[in-house]
This record gives sequence, structure tokens and C-alpha cells, in this order.
Amino acid sequence: MCGIVGYIGPKEAVSILVEGLEKLEYRGYDSAGVAITGNGSIEILKKEGKLRALKDELNGQTYSANVGIGHTRWATHGRPSDENAHPHTDCTGKIAVVHNGIIENYLSLREWLQSQGHVFNSQTDTEVLPHLIEEFYEGDLLEAVLKASSKLEGSFALAVVSSHEPNKLVAVRQDSPLVVGLGEGEYFLASDIPALLRHTRFTYILNDGEIAVLEPDRVRVMDRQRNKINKKVLEVKWEAEQAEKGGYDHFMLKEIHEQPKALRDTFSGRIAADNSRVILDEVKITPEQIRGLKKVFITACGTAYHAGFVGKYVIERLVRLPVEVDIASEFRYRQPIIEPGTLVIIISQSGETADTLAALREAKRQGAHVIAVTNVVGSSVSREADDVIYTWAGPEIAVASTKAYTTQLASMYLIALHLATVRGTIAPGELGGILSEMKQLDAKAQLLVDNSVEIRDFAEEICSSRSLFYIGRGLDYAVAMEGSLKLKEISYIHAEAYAAGELKHGTLALIEDAVPVVALCTQKDLYDKTASNIQEVNARGASVLALAMEGFKEVEKVSDKTIYIPETHPLLAPILTVIPLQLLAYHTAVARGCDVDKPRNLAKSVTVE
Ligand code: AGP
Ligand code: GLU
Repeated sequence: MCGIVGYIGPKEAVSILVEGLEKLEYRGYDSAGVAITGNGSIEILKKEGKLRALKDELNGQTYSANVGIGHTRWATHGRPSDENAHPHTDCTGKIAVVHNGIIENYLSLREWLQSQGHVFNSQTDTEVLPHLIEEFYEGDLLEAVLKASSKLEGSFALAVVSSHEPNKLVAVRQDSPLVVGLGEGEYFLASDIPALLRHTRFTYILNDGEIAVLEPDRVRVMDRQRNKINKKVLEVKWEAEQAEKGGYDHFMLKEIHEQPKALRDTFSGRIAADNSRVILDEVKITPEQIRGLKKVFITACGTAYHAGFVGKYVIERLVRLPVEVDIASEFRYRQPIIEPGTLVIIISQSGETADTLAALREAKRQGAHVIAVTNVVGSSVSREADDVIYTWAGPEIAVASTKAYTTQLASMYLIALHLATVRGTIAPGELGGILSEMKQLDAKAQLLVDNSVEIRDFAEEICSSRSLFYIGRGLDYAVAMEGSLKLKEISYIHAEAYAAGELKHGTLALIEDAVPVVALCTQKDLYDKTASNIQEVNARGASVLALAMEGFKEVEKVSDKTIYIPETHPLLAPILTVIPLQLLAYHTAVARGCDVDKPRNLAKSVTVE
């Protein structure tokens, strides 16, 4: 999910490639590399770590080559290391490839290529690409790339160079971004516009399925059948900083909008095509261990903890195992009772949160099997857990976590369904129904991120409030927790999530005229009870914004405003319900002039106790 750059022209390529990678630095990465072609060979320079490590490697040397590609990696398959860094080459070292995305069918391709005698040097999914191109190369690089990419499943933005045809750069776009920069007698390639702006503002934005061939005197764009595509030149008006945010005003808004793709990526390769099963080949916990489970703990901090709360409801409903959810800073000191047959699920976007890491170590010390759900390959949590489920959300820059949360939920559903299948607590029909619905969540999330008008209006209404309440029952209560944290941490308005049925036991005393209450009502089996709770706050003058599923007009009788989410399986509703709440927090913070991406007092990863 990180960055690709490419260059072909009269200038020395390496410095242009490195400078382009610097402009992608905001996307975060764990390793970087370049490949340059010239005088009949390809030179590869790549290093684990920040770009500085690569620059130190390159330091002081001069490279005359004027064609090359570069990459900053956000690992998904294979930990960060020199050998797993991109570019990757074929057996002959004459073809080099960089890739953004996930090759879902890389294992079967790798096995076939190995049976054809190809030797692999990395653990990445990407490395199948140069060997595939080598397998199909018969004197036409473009043809070989087309044949190779036709074998791929998943998301990929590719750039390919070869010493067979040193004055050519071939690029393919499928579900990961790629932009061509049109210079004066020189051409550029990049995942994102910031890497181009120093050289040109004139671009071709490649669409899915399009291939670009960059040569010293021309750029051709075509489809998979080599039909020419007449691309419209797009002149970029953004300044660099704006471009880093993809044209959004803040990283947080960009990351809210990235959720459909992040969900697609996190589900990719993990749901059988016929919706018959979850595919979690990455987990080592055995069916025997799963059948022997007696209890589950889930522990995390902040937003990850809220994802764990949703996980509790889902696992108890589907797997019929008792689940205890705990804040990691509490778990680690309360001498939790962990008996044989205990599974501990650790959730952490960064994989470096000190309290969460300590909780993981306590769980391991007491002999539990630990599954980590994290967004960072090679993070401390991922290295110390027994099993790891990676969320493939890509780098999350904003302090307020959004796409990490929804992909953590996605991972919790995958785990719950996997456990339920092995333990026989879910019928194939229900499993198939839920999996089919999961595959539609990205499109339904897209509808929500694209439609925030009503939310913005409500944000204007509440932006001067002193306090807000989020109420709900069951899964809605779990999501209410996340909604209230989002608002608090970026708008600095006090907000509290409350189990709707608990209000009357004290907190109702705080409800008075015009106090805003966000009432989550997606769980229809609990609606009648929640409706009574809404009436309770209504009767005390509250201003109620309700969230309900499309078509559930009943709720309009008790709310001042209603936001609808697309119909989905009630268990899956949290992935959608949270999106309007993220947008509400965002627009309220903007209305209050807060620093949305870097809120006061907070850090993106809390690596201290
Ligand atoms: C949420 O928006 C905050 N950024 C914070 O609560 C965060 O979720 C928490 O610090 C846990 O971080 P982690 O997922 O990286 O462990
Ligand atoms: N899936 C590839 C890898 O893990 C590419 C990751 C990326 O987009 O940076 O190397």
C-alpha cells in the first residue's frame, strides 16, 4: 500500500527515483529500493528500514543509468528485510518489478513457478511477478507483462523494467493507484501525485485494467488486449501537501474514504469464492486446539479495544464461547485467570502499544494461545504472538484511527466465523449468508463515505455543545463507544457512550434541554427497548440523531434526525454504522477549527505506559 516511482528520460535516474520516494514518505514504509537499467544489465539497490538507510547505501556513488523504478514497501507478505524489499528480479536478473497491493493467488503461482525451476529469494507475494514475466518472455516485454498480469488475482500496481529492453518501462494498474507524469522529453511514474509535482503537473491517471508503456520519446496507454486508449491529460492544481492527502483536506478524511478499499483488501483471499468458508491459512492454531477452547480474552487499547468489544458480541453469538474484553493496561496488572483452553486475541493497529504488548506477554506467560490482529507487518506484537491476522488497511497517518478500526472488525468477523465453523456452531446456510454479505460491505461503505451531507448539518448543530451522549444496546452500544471516542479525541467535546438500558440508573440526570444524543438503532431485535430509552431522553429535551438501517422508518417517530445505513446482516452492521460517526467527529472538529490529524495531547502510537 506504499509507493512506486519510475523514470525514463535524459537525466540520471537514481536521484529522481529517491527524491520521488521521499515525497511518498508520508505514506510510511518499512523498506525501500531502486532498480536501474543501463549497459545490458540491471542494478538493484534495496534496504530494510526508512529511506535514510537506502540513501546511505547509495551515498556518494554516481549512477549513469537514465531508466529506473523505485519502491517504498508497506509489507503484507513477508517481514520487512533486505531480501523482502522491492524491486524483485527473475532468475536471470534481467527483469525487475516493483508492486503495490496483494497478489491473492501468489502461493499457487509460486508453486507452479518452482515446479518450472524458478528459484525464489524472498517470502513476498510480489516475487512471483518477475518470474512469471520471465516465464512468458519471448522477446516482447509488454506481451510478457500482459500474459503475467492476466494470471494474477488481487490488487496490483506494477512497474517493470528489463535489460532485455532497457529503454522501456511497463506499468499496470489494477485496484492500486498509478499516475504517469508527462515531462518535456522525459516521463515519470508514481503511485501518488506528490512524487511528480517537482517535475510536471501534467498527468495521465491510470484506471483499473490499463497498461502504460513509457519510452524515451512517447507514452502509450492501452487495455489488456493492447487496444490504444486516448487518455485525457489531467493538469494537477494541488500543491504538494494537498497532494499527499490525495486532495482531501486531512489524512483522516482520506483514510475514512479509503475504507472501502481497505475492507476489500482485508477480505481479499480470505473468503471462499462460493462463500462456503473462511480462508485463514495464516493461522497455526489447530482444529483440535479450537475445539478444546473454553474461553476467549480480547485485550487492546482505545479504538482497538472498541473493536474488541464488537468482537466479544460476535464471537459469543457465533461461537458460543465466553469472551472477556479488557483494556490492556488493566489486563496486564489484574492477574487475569488464564486456564488451559484459553485463546487471547490482541488487537493493535501499530503493533507497538506498550500496554497491549505487555498484555500479550502476560497472556503468553500464562500459556494462552495468542492471536494478534495488527496493521503493521513485522511489528513487535506480530513477532511475539502465536498467530497473526494482518489488517491490510495500508498506512494510517491520522492519529484518530478509522480504517484500522473497520478492518479490525473485518478481522474479528473472519476469526469468529473460522472458530464457529471448526466448532460446528454455525450452519452452512448462515455462514454462506454472512460471507456473502461481507463481500458487499465495501460497496455499502462507499455509499456512506460518499454521502455526508446530513452528517455535516448535524455537526454544525452540535459543534458548540459542551457534552454529547452516544447510546445503544448490544452491538450498537459497542459502536457507540467508538463514536464517542472519535468525537472526543479530535473535537475536544466531552462525549460519553452509554448502554441505552443503563441511562435511567443515574446518567439520565445529565440529560436536559438540547443535549445532543446519538442513538444507534441498527439491532432490530432490541429496537423496542432502545426506542423507550430514546423516549426517556426525548422527554428531558434531548436533541436526538438516530442511526438505523435503510427502510426502518419506525425510528423517525422518536428522533429529530435519522441517518440510515444500507441494509446488512445485523452482526455486520458495526462496520457501516461507525462511518457516519467518524464523519460526524471529523466535520465537528473541522467546524471547531481543531487540528484534525494531530489532536492535542495525543500520539499515533502510545509506546509508553
Ligand atoms: C484511536 O483513534 C486512537 N488513536 C487510540 O485510541 C488508539 O486506538 C490506541 O492508542 C491503540 O493504538 P494501537 O491500535 O496502535 O495499539
Ligand atoms: N504485498 C507486497 C509485499 O508485501 C507489496 C506491499 C506494498 O504494497 O508495499 O511486499
